[in-house]
Amino acid sequence: MSNDPLLQPFQLKHLTLRNRIIVTSHEPAYPEDGMPKGRYRAYTVERARGGVALTMTAGSAAVSKDSPPVFNNLLAYKDEIVPWIREMTDAVHETGAAIMIQLTHLGRRTRWDKGDWLPVVAPSHHREAAHRAFPKKLEDWDIERIIKDFADAAERMKAGGMDGVELEAYGHLIDQFTSPLTNELDGPYGGSLENRMRFCFDVFRAIRKRVGDDFILGVRYTADECLPGGTDRAEGIEISKRLKESGLIDYLNVVRGHIDTDAGLTDLIPIQGMASAPHLDFAGEVRAATNFPTFHAAKIQDVATARHAIAAGKVDMVGMTRAHMTDPHIVRKIMEKREDDIRPCVGANYCLDRIYQGGLAFCIHNAATGREETMPHQIAKAEVRKKVVIVGAGPAGLEAARVSAERGHEVVVFEAANNPGGQIRLTAQSERRREMISIIDWRMSQCEKLGVTFRFNTWADAATVTAENADVVIIATGGLPHTEVLSKGNELVVSAWDIISGDVKPGTNVLVYDDAGDHAGLQAAEFIARAGGKVEIMTPDRAFAPEVMAMNLVPYMRSLQKLDTTFTVTYRLESAEKSGNQIIAHIGSDYGGVSKQRTVDQIVVNHGTIPLDDLYFELKPGSKNLGEVSYDELISGEPQTVERNPEGTYQLFRIGDAVAARNTHAAIYDALRLAKDI
Ligand SMILES: Cc1cc2nc3c(=O)[nH]c(=O)nc-3n(C[C@H](O)[C@H](O)[C@H](O)COP(=O)(O)O)c2cc1C
Ligand code: SF4
Repeated sequence: MSNDPLLQPFQLKHLTLRNRIIVTSHEPAYPEDGMPKGRYRAYTVERARGGVALTMTAGSAAVSKDSPPVFNNLLAYKDEIVPWIREMTDAVHETGAAIMIQLTHLGRRTRWDKGDWLPVVAPSHHREAAHRAFPKKLEDWDIERIIKDFADAAERMKAGGMDGVELEAYGHLIDQFTSPLTNELDGPYGGSLENRMRFCFDVFRAIRKRVGDDFILGVRYTADECLPGGTDRAEGIEISKRLKESGLIDYLNVVRGHIDTDAGLTDLIPIQGMASAPHLDFAGEVRAATNFPTFHAAKIQDVATARHAIAAGKVDMVGMTRAHMTDPHIVRKIMEKREDDIRPCVGANYCLDRIYQGGLAFCIHNAATGREETMPHQIAKAEVRKKVVIVGAGPAGLEAARVSAERGHEVVVFEAANNPGGQIRLTAQSERRREMISIIDWRMSQCEKLGVTFRFNTWADAATVTAENADVVIIATGGLPHTEVLSKGNELVVSAWDIISGDVKPGTNVLVYDDAGDHAGLQAAEFIARAGGKVEIMTPDRAFAPEVMAMNLVPYMRSLQKLDTTFTVTYRLESAEKSGNQIIAHIGSDYGGVSKQRTVDQIVVNHGTIPLDDLYFELKPGSKNLGEVSYDELISGEPQTVERNPEGTYQLFRIGDAVAARNTHAAIYDALRLAKDI
């Protein structure tokens, strides 16, 4: 047996967990009609097959009708959920993993205009900034009703074959009772710590009565809100001890911080550029103070840190949650001594930011995650070995190369630059986005192991490509910054990429005009402001940087606000003209009736990219399919069979930004779904 601390079993009451790695509760927003159907089950089972000890399904499955999900969560208050849960738990148990589910009542962390349009409830009238509802202050009958709802939901989960349930107590109703900041009740549920914890214990008591002793109960709670006047470290340790001493629960799952604002949420679940494992020592303090089974997750992305967490006795079970969204087979790879092959989570938080915008959680660089029913995590070998030539070694080209090589094909990649990475290499120029380069590094190391040939510093023209006698040619040449957006004066502007790459020196008084709304605009603004320039970011949209999304915006705001950046929304840059060594920017608005001017020494435009597609069009006439993609075959996962030109000698495809400006995930998904069937 291995002596790796991560691979030692852990006895949690009657439940033997096969190793020390868990996936903590996270709602990927895959439910259909509030039920864990095919997509949900396939996603969950893939991680169980990959070797994880315990998968904590759902995030915040709703126990009551007045806790309507704000994104797509499971509805644990419905009886019809039981058979769906049973299908999932049976499939997970077959793999040898344990499975539990997190239940919650969101309290004020939701909206009244969702679900059944019931009033939002909380132990005070204070609104939560993130979801904006002004809550009704709970009455006695609300409290009784919700305690019963928790017990009913837990009973359903037991009937569905779950090994246990975990209650969510950070930012949700249970800790809205516990925190002095959100509890203004009189009587038995307000005031002293004993009273503020009463609701939590009443809920656990009611659940325990229903489910008996042979069912795991745990709580995921904040043991330090990090907010003035809130639950502090000392009170958090006291809460931890009381939870243990209640005898009602079997483990503690510790988090630190608060989630009522985007900034708070981002400190609790840190993203790229933030410290690794920032709350691990604190979780260790809770474990030391309670001597009770302790779980914890927060940016423990790599195996070495996870191993340290266990070996140093900080926690009993270590969560690697986003790490498993990126690579579901971490444990298997540890067991096979293939840690180098683990696809790294780069903390891009595309997954989490998307759910807050109503989307499904997808991983920025694993397009199979959440698409397990159609996209493979392990690529099958092709029956016929082909020669595949790829032009461009950005994320799309490298994914196409990796997948084609996994299929067993001979793969040659041409790249004009001396390094792989394309736009990712540029974006990784920002210190905070440096982790992004692992998207490229991981693919390069996989490609090298698989024998892919790379020709860097090579400008591939049509003759270079056709000389290869390929069966399949994939154009992944990406795009060039598109700055021609003005009616006059386009020659006076530079692109966001010019600034980020260092090709153009930052100005001292700069207008950043950003209607693409992605990272490049904010990155350029930050480069300029850090170099001492005065920056105004302007967009015709209602909000700036909409593609960056909530948690990714937090570090930018922390930096840009301190650098005194101005943010101007709803104004459109129309034209520019030279005036001495200055530029006059003429500004209007889509709403009409305004005309303003700014005098600056630099205008930076971020308007996405325009496809670099000359080579594709040169190669098109010589191809069998004349570049056509059958969308039906692509979507249904079949090989491409379009034949439009009997004289053609190769199939020709283009992917990523060489087709149209999109994002990294789209580029990688283009590549995976095409190449997996070549
Ligand atoms: C898409 C997504 C949804 C999440 N939803 C929940 C949730 O509903 N409840 C919860 O306790 N944590 C939730 N989390 C937080 C994770 O459980 C975990 O604490 C967090 O991702 C930090 O751990 P990691 O760095 O290992 O990913 C969510 C995380 C993600 C990525
Ligand atoms: S999107 Fe980013 S943070 Fe989320 S799982 Fe993928 S790599 Fe990790």
